[in-house]
Amino acid sequence: MKNLYHYIFLLAIVLMASGSIKGQRDVINVNGKNIGDKIPASLYGVFFEEISHAGDGGLYAEMVQNRGFEDGTLPSGTTLINGFACAPAFPCYSNDSINRFKIRWDDKLSMNAWTVVNHNGKSSYKITSENPLDRATPHALRLDLNENGSVVSVINNGYWGMALNKGGSYHLTFWMKTSQNYQGELSVYLKNTKGEIVDVKQLYLGNNTKWAKYEVSFTSSNSGNDYRLYLDFKGKGSIYLDYVSLFPVKTYKGRINGLRNDIAEFLGNLKPAFIRWPGGCIAEGLTLENRVKWKETIGDPMKRPGEYNLWGYRSTYGFGYHEFLQYCEDIQSDAMFVCNAGMACLFRNGDYVEEGQLTDLIQEALDAIEYAIGDTNTIWGKQRAINGHPEPFPLKYVEIGNENVGKRYAAHYKQFYKAIKKRYPALNIICALMFHPEVEEAGNPEFIDPHYYETADWFYRNDRLYDHIPAIYGNSKIYIGEYAATGNPSLYSSLGEAAFLTGVERNSSRIQLVSYAPLFQNANHGNAHMIVYDNNSVYGRTNYHIMKMFALNRPDFNLETTISPVNNPKPLQFTGKIGLGSCGTSVQYKDFIVEKNGQAIYTSDFSDLNTNWRIHQGNWNVSGNILTQTDTNTDGYIFLETNQREDCTIRLKARKIKGREGFRIFFGAKDIQNYYMADLGSHQNESVIFGERKNGVITSLFDYRNTQSIRAGEWYDVRIEIKGNHWKCYLNNKLSYEYTCQPLVRHYAVSGYDQDKKELILKLVNGENKPWKGIIRLTNITGIKNPVRQIQIHSPSANSENSLTSPQAVIPQTKYLQGVKDKYHIDCPPNSFTILRIPCSLSF
Ligand code: AHR
Repeated sequence: MKNLYHYIFLLAIVLMASGSIKGQRDVINVNGKNIGDKIPASLYGVFFEEISHAGDGGLYAEMVQNRGFEDGTLPSGTTLINGFACAPAFPCYSNDSINRFKIRWDDKLSMNAWTVVNHNGKSSYKITSENPLDRATPHALRLDLNENGSVVSVINNGYWGMALNKGGSYHLTFWMKTSQNYQGELSVYLKNTKGEIVDVKQLYLGNNTKWAKYEVSFTSSNSGNDYRLYLDFKGKGSIYLDYVSLFPVKTYKGRINGLRNDIAEFLGNLKPAFIRWPGGCIAEGLTLENRVKWKETIGDPMKRPGEYNLWGYRSTYGFGYHEFLQYCEDIQSDAMFVCNAGMACLFRNGDYVEEGQLTDLIQEALDAIEYAIGDTNTIWGKQRAINGHPEPFPLKYVEIGNENVGKRYAAHYKQFYKAIKKRYPALNIICALMFHPEVEEAGNPEFIDPHYYETADWFYRNDRLYDHIPAIYGNSKIYIGEYAATGNPSLYSSLGEAAFLTGVERNSSRIQLVSYAPLFQNANHGNAHMIVYDNNSVYGRTNYHIMKMFALNRPDFNLETTISPVNNPKPLQFTGKIGLGSCGTSVQYKDFIVEKNGQAIYTSDFSDLNTNWRIHQGNWNVSGNILTQTDTNTDGYIFLETNQREDCTIRLKARKIKGREGFRIFFGAKDIQNYYMADLGSHQNESVIFGERKNGVITSLFDYRNTQSIRAGEWYDVRIEIKGNHWKCYLNNKLSYEYTCQPLVRHYAVSGYDQDKKELILKLVNGENKPWKGIIRLTNITGIKNPVRQIQIHSPSANSENSLTSPQAVIPQTKYLQGVKDKYHIDCPPNSFTILRIPCSLSF
């Protein structure tokens, strides 16, 4: 009997240790006495950039693509050389390299979205600038109908078809002029792919040798999203056609040159505290000349030249500065304007103006501010009134540049800051530096703007990132201007972002603003962002719903919230191979040593390449005692054949020859899809950090990245120390990066109090594929009332995601709970985000 008790006792211990005893739960404790950070109303905003057809073919309701026949216009500041639009060979502001940025350029772009069908072979057409409708938009389509009875159809595809709703009204505008003595007819109509026609309008054209505006209204007798606009010309002579524009009459708030109702409302439902415009990299430009020039985005849309926007298409800027400000006002968001800091995007050409020549660009920024909030007796305030809005717009933030780095930027920033602050002291000014060493040099800015495009696991790992911000980064407030979990869009990645947002909310005295990016995406173009649409419908990815849950359930201040897990996670353990590699880079290695306890246990001059090493990928060869990987188009992998089981130090010399990044030293490698690495030159050679590859997905392992790049042509002494889950990387005997790789348990909690509603708001993220069993313990919280509103989004599959065909596959559900008290059992379903709103009082 005694033995039996003994056995039961042991079993209980084992079960307790594995957490599988029924009733054992993690404790989620909320302490109503320990008040944390205030959560500002500004916190949750959005980032707008013309990328993935966010404006044209998206929010902006124009249905005709390439309406002004300007799509063949080269990006400003570039020259056409051998089929490439080439930026000038000017030095890049970050490191004086000559980037010679260029993009392939195709003549056919000028007829983008247009087709001309010649029905009897007696006509021709061309894009011409011989008779500009406006100097800013010089191109037009010229049709030459060479014989009586020539018939030509000019057809526009819209943005992947045009959508019509039965009974809906649409307004077409176009400009034309004809040659002398032109006589002919024009039929305009919309036709779908089945050949069904909506509303034919017949026009008779006399000779009209001056540009004239024509307007036609349609009422649709049908619904569908595969319509195209037809202009059929019949006659003899020449016709010039320009600025062909079709809008639904019902735009958002009925505005002319307005926005799509469905998308504008969908974004409005997020109740963003602010909207950032115009970007993003397009605020910088692929050359400086190519930046968004806000003055070209206001006034008569027909006169706006538009710009090739570095995300692969030309933007009309029909959704320009004025429309942006108007939309902010309409949905009660504050506006954030991003100006250029005198430098083009460093990942493109990076050309810049010298520090002493910033006057014009500073003035450009000041004028933008004046346009938004200046008195109507100022030049630009008056222009705003002329454009229909005498009252100031809600501009509250100005960001100086985007994703800029370095000393040159810090100097530019200071000049902009001084000039703007002097005239507009109440504006919040954001510095585009992230956690860079130049933050101090920039004079301890009001705000800095870190961006994160990392895998879902990076976000799961970094919920605590802002709990302890290193003092070296000063005390600037933080605007997380762009973040997104990369890779397969799924509930799993959205919950990773949610985990990260729990840390943002907890630290919101410091982090005052956050916006996901990119925001919008036309389903026919690019990867899924947050809000996706075609020409007829719109849906939110799971992260849209999660962001909305955060934004609509923002407490006034945080309450201390802790999780005491039943099980402490097992520390990371790994075995595997050591190896060397590269990423899009040609590299050389020599003097390779593995040490244990200070003693060399393996050394190599690579003469043993064929016996002790195995090449997995790349073009590796040995000459003398130097191992070289030459291929810059692939990632290189070579592993030592024996497994490394224990802590060790890897020493070697490494030299970059050419290419994108630097060196990779692997450890704990199972194969080329699963390993850990010291990643020297990660993020396009911006940092030295660690990384993990799991089933092919690389997650960068860093909290605050350093900004150390690997210079080509230089031998570096590299040392990697591996002690359990604590790793250090030294370059030339100087510690470059150290990281402790903690085990990952995807459970998160944050809570706060809504003073108006007198409700505790508790947010729980379960990023695991199994239920999270918890007991909520409410300490120093009284007067708990039921029912408690629960808002929850979840799915049995972490891979679930909404789509055009299943737009509501995973959306939040609300229910009302009874029986909630100071100790309350909760089972968070697998892959879930749960919010509880608990009516109660706090005992201060
Ligand atoms: O969001 C897309 C781009 O990513 C932004 O333009 C830029 O700031 C970042 O690099």
